[in-house]
Amino acid sequence: MKLVTAIIRPEKVDDIRSALESYGVRGLTVSHASGYGRQRGHTEVYRGAEYTSDLLRKTRVEILVPDHAASDIVDVLVSTANTGRAGDGKVWITQVEEAVRVRTGERGDAAV
Ligand SMILES: Nc1ncnc2c1ncn2[C@@H]1O[C@H](COP(=O)(O)OP(=O)(O)OP(=O)(O)O)[C@@H](O)[C@H]1O
Ligand SMILES: [Mg+2]
Repeated sequence: MKLVTAIIRPEKVDDIRSALESYGVRGLTVSHASGYGRQRGHTEVYRGAEYTSDLLRKTRVEILVPDHAASDIVDVLVSTANTGRAGDGKVWITQVEEAVRVRTGERGDAAV
């Protein structure tokens, strides 16, 4: 299994959810995040006003997926999150040792 993590613009989360559901993703975790990238939070504009903090509000989306699906899911995330402007976010993949579906005890790909 892989864990796909995406840091995206908060206003993109509904589009991302729809796109992932269309792809067939059956679960995900969304959490609030803050951070900065290469511009160190200085030059991005949020809803028309320049943000005054170094840390910009972002949304983290995490999806546990079978190995074979990870690359396509990254493509879905990147194409949906892209606006062409600085601050669109970042997506990465990490290897996952094991996952368990708590109710059934299923493990591995069957659990995600
Ligand atoms: N190297 C990194 N490690 C962890 N999180 C990061 C990293 N770079 C960016 N992020 C997270 O992603 C968010 C969005 O990053 P951002 O899109 O600004 O990246 P960037 O590399 O500056 O690209 P761009 O030039 O398109 O803005 C940041 O606010 C931060 O939360
Ligand atoms: Mg940036």
